[in-house]
Amino acid sequence: MTSYKELGLVNTKDLFKKAVSGGYALPAYNFNNMEQMQAIIQACVETKSPVILQVSAGAREYANQNLLKNMARGAVEYAHELGYDIPIVLHLDHGGSFEICKDCIETGFSSVMIDGSHLPYDENVALTKKVCEFAHSQKDYVTVEGELGVLAGVEDDVSAEHSHYTQPSEVIDFVGKTKVDSLAISIGTSHGRAKFKPEQCTRNADGILIPPPLRFDILEEVEKKIPGFPIVLHGSSSVPIEYVHMIEKYGGKLSDSVGIPEEQLRRAAKSAVCKINIDSDGRLAMTALIRKVFIEKPDEFDPRKYLGPARAELKKLYAHKNQNVLGSAGQA
Ligand code: G3H
Ligand code: 13P
Ligand code: ZN
Repeated sequence: MTSYKELGLVNTKDLFKKAVSGGYALPAYNFNNMEQMQAIIQACVETKSPVILQVSAGAREYANQNLLKNMARGAVEYAHELGYDIPIVLHLDHGGSFEICKDCIETGFSSVMIDGSHLPYDENVALTKKVCEFAHSQKDYVTVEGELGVLAGVEDDVSAEHSHYTQPSEVIDFVGKTKVDSLAISIGTSHGRAKFKPEQCTRNADGILIPPPLRFDILEEVEKKIPGFPIVLHGSSSVPIEYVHMIEKYGGKLSDSVGIPEEQLRRAAKSAVCKINIDSDGRLAMTALIRKVFIEKPDEFDPRKYLGPARAELKKLYAHKNQNVLGSAGQA
């Protein structure tokens, strides 16, 4: 049993309060390996941004939960060594059961998501409440994110055939009964690199897919019901077309890729949305740079020679998000 404070980590409580009143969102970046973690910390130190390091079920399986926990501990020391102590949260992304949340809390996570969004409403309430009771009763309060509404899209362990927008009429009851610390809502974002079907989009003069706008009307309704309550957006990669083109130039195939435009995320970040989840954009950046090295330098076989450029590009991407999309730069 480890408390996150022993690791130098923080929960989301104060960070969300500041983000909601300050009109910005915290970056929640998924990580599975050392290069991703290094890039996240380098970018967040450079831009003086707080950060949420997210671990999915897939990441726990791929990299081992204990190893990831110790990487987060290392991230705290790494930031210090880079010259600026930033607040770092270690968060379980899409926790699928009470047991997984409990396990992560006992491992030293400072925040967990219990994702009961696919369950009937009353079961979602009961499960989320159970996780909150456990997390909040720890010696060091662990924060809990719940979810109402289902995101469309398919991404490994996180899948939902159809999206169901969050119903604003449910949020007061859900937050009141569960005592959750933040709420993920569904307003049109979805996981992965192909967030909409081409028939849901229009095309610009260059044939690039333009997605339908997010449902800001639902977000506004939710904000009216629970003023100032921390809201979370999942599935918020923008799927930069430059990376898609680069991947395709170097032999990949990613047809019908489309993400959430940055201006819409910027608008959301100025509202009660205080955590924005980004994973796919990092995957695209890494893949693009690795493919480039493989094609341009076919005799290269030292992993540092392709993981290094991928890490450098990732850092650039995260710094850009903090500065120009989320508004979290300068808030640490
Ligand atoms: O929400 C989903 C994240 O992108 C994590 O994906 O389950 O493939 O690690 P993953
Ligand atoms: P993206 O697939 O849009 O990056 O979303 C990631 C996410 O929501 C992680 O929980
Ligand atoms: Zn998600």
